[in-house]
Amino acid sequence: MDRLFIFDTTLRDGEQVPGCQLNTVEKIQVAKALELLGVDIIEAGFPVSSPGDFNSVVEISKAVTSPTVCALTRGVEKDIDVAAEALKYAKRKRIHTGIGTSAYHIKYKFNATQEEILKRAVAATKYAKKYVEDVEFYCEDAGRTENEYLARVVEAVIKAGATVVNIPDTTGYCLPAEFGAKIKYLMEHVDGIHKAIISTHCHNDLGMATANTIAGIANGARQAELTINGIGERAGNTSLEEVAMILKCHKHLGVATNINTREIYSTSRMVSSLMNMPVQPNKAIVGRNAFAHSSGIHQDGVLKNVQTYEIIDPKDVGIDDNSIVLTARSGRAALKHHLQMLGIELDREKLDNIYQEFLKLADRKKDIRDNDILMLAGEGRKASFRIKLEYMQVTSGIGVRPVASVCLNIAGEKFEATASGNGPVDAAIKAVKTIVHRQMTIQEFLIQAMNKGSDDVGKVHMQVACDGNVYYGFAANTDIVAASIEAFIDAVNKIG
Ligand code: KIV
Ligand code: ZN
Repeated sequence: MDRLFIFDTTLRDGEQVPGCQLNTVEKIQVAKALELLGVDIIEAGFPVSSPGDFNSVVEISKAVTSPTVCALTRGVEKDIDVAAEALKYAKRKRIHTGIGTSAYHIKYKFNATQEEILKRAVAATKYAKKYVEDVEFYCEDAGRTENEYLARVVEAVIKAGATVVNIPDTTGYCLPAEFGAKIKYLMEHVDGIHKAIISTHCHNDLGMATANTIAGIANGARQAELTINGIGERAGNTSLEEVAMILKCHKHLGVATNINTREIYSTSRMVSSLMNMPVQPNKAIVGRNAFAHSSGIHQDGVLKNVQTYEIIDPKDVGIDDNSIVLTARSGRAALKHHLQMLGIELDREKLDNIYQEFLKLADRKKDIRDNDILMLAGEGRKASFRIKLEYMQVTSGIGVRPVASVCLNIAGEKFEATASGNGPVDAAIKAVKTIVHRQMTIQEFLIQAMNKGSDDVGKVHMQVACDGNVYYGFAANTDIVAASIEAFIDAVNKIG
């Protein structure tokens, strides 16, 4: 079997998605889960883009041992200097530099010629090489770059010392056969191609990211750039769990990864919960319905022999059929076991706090699901926020004007306000705005039931604009008015 190197970019391309930003502690948590999952390279950030990204690359470099830590740069010296500095604690390090090579990028982004771009590509590679041995070069928009010119760039950067050359389908434009043919062309026409590893980096704008990645691998690429749950810019990147399981199911492709597939589910849940990005129920491998057989014919077949309708054993991706069902009578140990299955490790004090919240929820809701547990684990993170909701009371109904009274604790001091509105949420948000004197506009407001039933937990995502910036709030509660106000306050806390 040939080895495929798994380059995870959840913390860079994935984290670029609006609303998915993580703090450094959360990024370290994800990086450690990725290490356990067995990824070969973690793209930890784009250090020159912000002090937060710089710091995350530094801290992830200290936190992980086995994977190579990679930092992204544009093909400019300043970016490369900053990336090298951020990587200084990494045991294994890589600089990922590059430039746009398609006619669109060369003409409209750089107002340059192909020859100028070629020179800049070589110069950036040589400059990065002064700092690290392992240099990856990306040809941005390679998907729409003509093969002949692309081959010249690839050949030149390999000569300049690139150890890996990334061929991104940045816009998710290519068809699988076309992308596969592009990789084949490079394998056949670039002098010295075997001195470097060719990498795929596909986006999912037309829903073909995974198919394109597999076509690339079938034609010689030996690194794939992926994200957990396929999270990423616009329609996302190729999802790691899909590629890992395709190669496991289709051994005839002759390519294997180092991924410990049993860690897939817990890593997926952790990323979804920390990034507040729900996984669509019918998502391959990790969606809630991925292994649920609902039609009578399928159920009958599966009961007779599971292989009639199942190509993957759920246990292979870490979904344990015998998982303990949680109820109001479950103890701390059961809750801890369940949290661990979902990729969440907590110290004793945090576990105790969540356990108390769990008991309250279990009193209100008899069927406690994974989403509920993740919601409880997420709530703990809010303890350190400056503005807290002390209490809220709403009156609403048919034929009465909804009124809400709210009390906020702001840095230890209590403030109360009452307001009316066209509904209970509107009234409560107006009351909060009376206390927090800022010009804030709600740009997006999404309420979603986590599971089903009238006793279900409602999850709220909110996008709030203030002073030209956008902030994201998230909350979950069995009371959807309370969840809405908590999500608003969550966003307000981020305004600072
Ligand atoms: O999609 C893309 O082209 C990228 C590069 C920066 C690697 O993310
Ligand atoms: Zn990308």
